[in-house]
Amino acid sequence: MAFSKASFSFIVMIVLLSSTTSLAHPGLGWGGKGGPFGGGSSGLFPEFYQYSCPQANDIVMLVLRKAIAKDSRMAASLLRLHFHDCFVQGCDASLLLDDSAKIVSEKNSGPNKNSLRGFEVVDEIKAKLEEACPQTVSCADILALAARGSTVLSGGPNWELPLGRRDSKTASLSGSNNNIPAPNSTIQNLISLFKRQGLNDIDLVALSGGHTIGVARCVTFKQRLYNQNGNNQPDHTIEKNYFLDLKSVCPKSGGDNNISPLDLASPAKFDNTYFKLLLWGKGLLTSDEVLYTGKVGTTIQLVKRYAEDEGLFFEHFAKSMVKMGNISPLTGFNGEVRKNCRLVN
Ligand code: HEM
Ligand SMILES: *[C@@H]1O[C@H](CO)[C@@H](O)[C@H](O)[C@H]1NC(C)=O
Repeated sequence: MAFSKASFSFIVMIVLLSSTTSLAHPGLGWGGKGGPFGGGSSGLFPEFYQYSCPQANDIVMLVLRKAIAKDSRMAASLLRLHFHDCFVQGCDASLLLDDSAKIVSEKNSGPNKNSLRGFEVVDEIKAKLEEACPQTVSCADILALAARGSTVLSGGPNWELPLGRRDSKTASLSGSNNNIPAPNSTIQNLISLFKRQGLNDIDLVALSGGHTIGVARCVTFKQRLYNQNGNNQPDHTIEKNYFLDLKSVCPKSGGDNNISPLDLASPAKFDNTYFKLLLWGKGLLTSDEVLYTGKVGTTIQLVKRYAEDEGLFFEHFAKSMVKMGNISPLTGFNGEVRKNCRLVN
């Protein structure tokens, strides 16, 4: 079929007109693959808001400083949100959508329910960003910025953060139930769930180091204390005194919401003690300890190296966070920039 020259230029004009109006939405309008600053195959790049909202990161950091001063655990909670977002249909803020007529919220999945926190802090960041730069900074980028900021404010590494993610109009409860590893995962489970996201063994061990901050509920490690293998025996890889401590926090029946630090030595400091504790049988979750006891040479070696060399851990953590943050983002004209992170526009 052949368009006449006139109808062709008419179509071109429509495309140009509609793109000038909607360019207000995709930030700089070069959010697509291969932006002018590079930034890898995802189409994200660090300078995405350089002209459209140069103060974006400052606003995020301002809210984070206040929130973390009030509740030091908030840094951990926000770091975790980015992970739980990225592992379900990519880093697209699908996690933040509440239940509604069209949305079945991921917030009610097994890994998320009665567990995730920090949504009010994300709301506050979003409200301040909407004031400063209306409909410009996506909720998915807010999660990425908050994860980096929380790491830095806890004493961890900083990194150049590719930006330009857009927000999904959908959520996936089943994706959330199936893609996020369970705390009683075997090393093989962990490796395969990370691989499904394009993440390798280095990413698995480095990112598990996120458990250097924050806490877990008794229900997430109870199996280890009383019936690890279906034979009413504890997990023999837990160090004796640590085992006794954990039993006092987490009784055989009840106490499911009692909490214990993931890194008992320094639960609010982003450092490499998490890995030292694994060497001593003091990892809290099965998924933590199996990185060292799971009989996979690469993860065992990485635990040892990170325990010895905090700089190496920081370097790998930063790299792996960028990689995780690049999981299937929506860019260009895909998705939208939500006005309220809980609702599609
Ligand atoms: C490797 C597989 C992983 C498993 C099985 C896992 C599992 C868990 C579980 C069960 C909790 C406690 C939840 C609760 O008690 O309600 C938790 C907390 C946490 N996770 Fe993970 N996680 C994994 C990987 C990650 C990654 C990749 C990150 C970030 C880079 C991360 C960051 C956190 C943080 C910071 C907390 C503490 C949150 C808080 O105190 O509010 N986790 N994780
Ligand atoms: C992990 O826990 C779930 C739910 O409690 C259970 O169904 C499953 O069998 C456990 N997996 C392992 C490997 O112990």
